[in-house]
Amino acid sequence: SGRIRTRDLLLAKQQKQTWSMLTSYDCYTAEIFDRVGVPVLLVGDSAANTVFGHSSTIPVTVDELLPLVRAVVGATSRALVVGDLPFGSYERDPGQALTTAVRFLKEGGCQAVKLEGGARMAPQIAKLVDAGIPVMAHIGFTPQSEHQLGGFRVQGRGEDAASALVADARAVADAGATAVVLEMVPADVAKEITGLLDIPTIGIGAGPDCDAQVLVWQDMLGLRRGRLPRFVKQYAQLDAVIETAVREFVQDVRHGAFPAAEHSFG
Ligand code: KIV
Ligand code: NA
Repeated sequence: SGRIRTRDLLLAKQQKQTWSMLTSYDCYTAEIFDRVGVPVLLVGDSAANTVFGHSSTIPVTVDELLPLVRAVVGATSRALVVGDLPFGSYERDPGQALTTAVRFLKEGGCQAVKLEGGARMAPQIAKLVDAGIPVMAHIGFTPQSEHQLGGFRVQGRGEDAASALVADARAVADAGATAVVLEMVPADVAKEITGLLDIPTIGIGAGPDCDAQVLVWQDMLGLRRGRLPRFVKQYAQLDAVIETAVREFVQDVRHGAFPAAEHSFG
């Protein structure tokens, strides 16, 4: 057996098998997702939000992400683990991207890296692939560029924007990317790109015709409070589960119901 390989993902596309990806940032969730058979786990820079509590992905650093990558890799045996290169760690030139990606593989132990950007990142993608590092690209809404993009909004709407997005998709595929995330892209554009490319497309807010779908686990399991993006489906309300359990613990302690004899040493 061993871990899923990038070639398995290409094979799945050829066989029209749709697969899923989830984010993971810790050993417990990683172990569960791996047990269920989620083939690809992303240690996203969304850890900025979901682990460190920032309001954007911009502040998170390589040094903060690497221990999370290690945790996810260490808790899994089957999933392909992808480490997300954070803002500022790869944009300058292909050499910077390689230095950072090498740290992700050597220190984090992941099997691939992800970076944001289309045609403008083709030199970085080609450099990493040339060095033997599989790259997942990410186009459409790219959260690290939110200030340039004018906030959290659908990308590739309208004829010009759609053809620019298709060009970006082709550029990352031609540069050697192993797969490409399409974030907040009109469903028809994502469908067109999915049909054009030989590599898998992984949608988030990109309609039903992508080769794969990704969600942030705290969003799909209801750990995050507040208004969720339209593209999230909530499969559980962990926030409520935890709140109820913690209330019970606090009450038990207050009333002396915990610890009981079986929790105590004689
Ligand atoms: O960081 C992240 O969670 C991501 C996914 C949403 C694709 O980039
Ligand atoms: Na990300």
